[in-house]
Amino acid sequence: MPNTPSGRLEDKVAIITGGGGGMGGAQARIFAAEGCAVCVADNRLEAAEEVAGEITKAGGRAIAVELDVRVTDQWADVVSKTETEFGPVTHLCNNAGANFRVGFEEQTEEQFRLIMEVGLNGSFLGIKAVVPSMRKAGSGVILNMGSLASIRPGGGSPGYAAQKMAMVGLTRSAAHSFAKDNIRCVIISPGHVDTPFIRGNNEHSPNSWETSIDNPDNFERRLNNTPLGRLQRPEDIANAFMFAATDDAAMITGSMITVDGGAGI
Ligand SMILES: NC(=O)c1ccc[n+]([C@@H]2O[C@H](COP(=O)([O-])OP(=O)(O)OC[C@H]3O[C@@H](n4cnc5c(N)ncnc54)[C@H](O)[C@@H]3O)[C@@H](O)[C@H]2O)c1
Repeated sequence: MPNTPSGRLEDKVAIITGGGGGMGGAQARIFAAEGCAVCVADNRLEAAEEVAGEITKAGGRAIAVELDVRVTDQWADVVSKTETEFGPVTHLCNNAGANFRVGFEEQTEEQFRLIMEVGLNGSFLGIKAVVPSMRKAGSGVILNMGSLASIRPGGGSPGYAAQKMAMVGLTRSAAHSFAKDNIRCVIISPGHVDTPFIRGNNEHSPNSWETSIDNPDNFERRLNNTPLGRLQRPEDIANAFMFAATDDAAMITGSMITVDGGAGI
């Protein structure tokens, strides 16, 4: 465990999208260990159930729900289920993302749309869905997932570049719009994190030997791009989410926190 739990999120209620994934799963576990009730939301229900099961087994409070972040009605159901189970939502972590690692001329319109719809539209819909609940709670924190592509998008996947740069604007817009409701919004940008996103071959993020970090050449390339000398672990990023989620970050809104071992320098 990264920190000794001390109830920093006692009585809080979080919805964590992509909660069955590497980084969302780590956030769910760390938030729950700090007393937060978590709704682990993912379009892969089994993966969400596994994370929620681990949390409840450890004595924490969690439910698993199936959510495709692109669908407004599903968001309404998830907020309603979470409220019924735990009370008004105080935290939203927008992790769900997609990528297709091909360049501009190879990327299809379908791939571009999917990247934007999952990462950007999904976060927009999530924010709209949780704000009324956060108003009931009296305060809230929205944490958006950025990337190195939110800092220097480079010449790879154009959809990913556009989506992750757009998250900066979405974060600032939400921060400005909801400050009056005592709701903060922060974007957290990791560097290279060892998760299925860059290692596995998934529907939302396909990898071949050419792109996976199973390939030592790719692993080394990402490592050499990280001045602090190691890839990040999901927990490195979840610790920053935790900081931003608490009153330690009470005056931080609209900002980006990078957790990249210096990769973005
Ligand atoms: N791994 C990295 O190096 C890295 C670096 C920077 C940013 N990111 C971003 O971090 C986020 C989480 O990625 P991860 O590394 O934990 O990968 P991951 O593949 O382990 O997790 C992503 C999760 O999102 C879920 N998901 C995909 N489409 C969805 C949809 N339509 N609705 C609901 N859930 C959906 C997947 O089922 C999966 O559980 C993504 O936004 C990704 O762009 C990853």
